[in-house]
Amino acid sequence: VKVALIGYGNVGKAFAKLLYSRRNAYPFRIVAIHTARHGTACASKGLPLTPEFAAAADSIDQFLEVSRPDVAIEITPLNPEDGEPAIGHIKTAIKHGIHVITANKGPIAHAYAELRELARRAQVEFRFESTVMDGAPVFNMVRHCLPGIQIMGFTGCLNSTSKLVVEAMSRGFTLEEGVKEAQAQGVAEADASFDIDGWDSAAKTAALANVFMDAHATPAMVEREGIRKFTTEQVMDLAREGKTVALMSRGERAGEKVILHVKPEILAVTDLLATTRGTSNVLLLHTDLMGTVGTVSIEPGVEQTAYGLFSDLVDIAKSV
Ligand SMILES: NC(=O)c1ccc[n+]([C@@H]2O[C@H](COP(=O)([O-])OP(=O)(O)OC[C@H]3O[C@@H](n4cnc5c(N)ncnc54)[C@H](OP(=O)(O)O)[C@@H]3O)[C@@H](O)[C@H]2O)c1
Repeated sequence: VKVALIGYGNVGKAFAKLLYSRRNAYPFRIVAIHTARHGTACASKGLPLTPEFAAAADSIDQFLEVSRPDVAIEITPLNPEDGEPAIGHIKTAIKHGIHVITANKGPIAHAYAELRELARRAQVEFRFESTVMDGAPVFNMVRHCLPGIQIMGFTGCLNSTSKLVVEAMSRGFTLEEGVKEAQAQGVAEADASFDIDGWDSAAKTAALANVFMDAHATPAMVEREGIRKFTTEQVMDLAREGKTVALMSRGERAGEKVILHVKPEILAVTDLLATTRGTSNVLLLHTDLMGTVGTVSIEPGVEQTAYGLFSDLVDIAKSV
């Protein structure tokens, strides 16, 4: 199976290493890589882990035309505003009849229904396991293990930065100091307001609702409140009472409508939804036939994001 990567940053490099480590059992070949500033690399027999980049292809269209992969993997940075240019990259790959995998939640949060329909018409697969909870099975768990199920709602504490900030505040630090700590750990972006004000959680909420509840939502349509209103004193008082603040994503059906919100909730520290620390995550799905089931992921890193791409690729390879 020939694979082309659009983006070769942290995730792309971890994914290439993973493929290399499993090369005997899974004969996948990365035949082309396209980046923003480093240029383009192509080799039909397969690229090494540190490829030599030449001049960039003129466009994704040209890149895919020349490299002719079976599967394109979209791993460019998230644009939380409108999901571009990743949405355009995915549409171009589908137009070429190429299967697509992405770890970029922008396209799922902004254009899932359209991309799913384009892929269906072109008879290609479109997969996105790593977009929520890194590589832990969320979408593929439902796809493979819960046939016939209807998802009535979901609850998840899915933003790592806000968890690290609340933890720091419970130890007496300010929100800003908590943010610096999260940045030092490489978890928060330079502009952490995306996490603190709930936009990251809103993007994940929209993505989950679009896939599981056919919600046609965007992050802006999620009712959203971040953790900024809490003071260090409040968080410390709560900690003394055995409680904490958790930035919760919730989706629920209400008749024909889907209600989505992200807001801080005060929970007992022993509450299942409050027990995952730092980058660890928990997501519960409320279903009609299986009650509430969920996924927990303990301290995932970029290798787990790469594994999510790999699991999608293995799945697609069965149909290529
Ligand atoms: N890091 C994680 O653990 C993690 C977890 C879950 C999901 N994700 C998602 O995975 C995606 C990739 O993350 P990352 O950490 O690998 O990002 P990254 O390290 O910033 O790498 C991004 C790559 O995309 C390339 N790129 C940027 N704009 C491009 C464009 N218009 N066309 C082609 N290539 C372009 C960059 O090129 P240059 O190298 O030339 O700059 C770079 O190679 C993001 O959407 C992220 O949200 C990441």
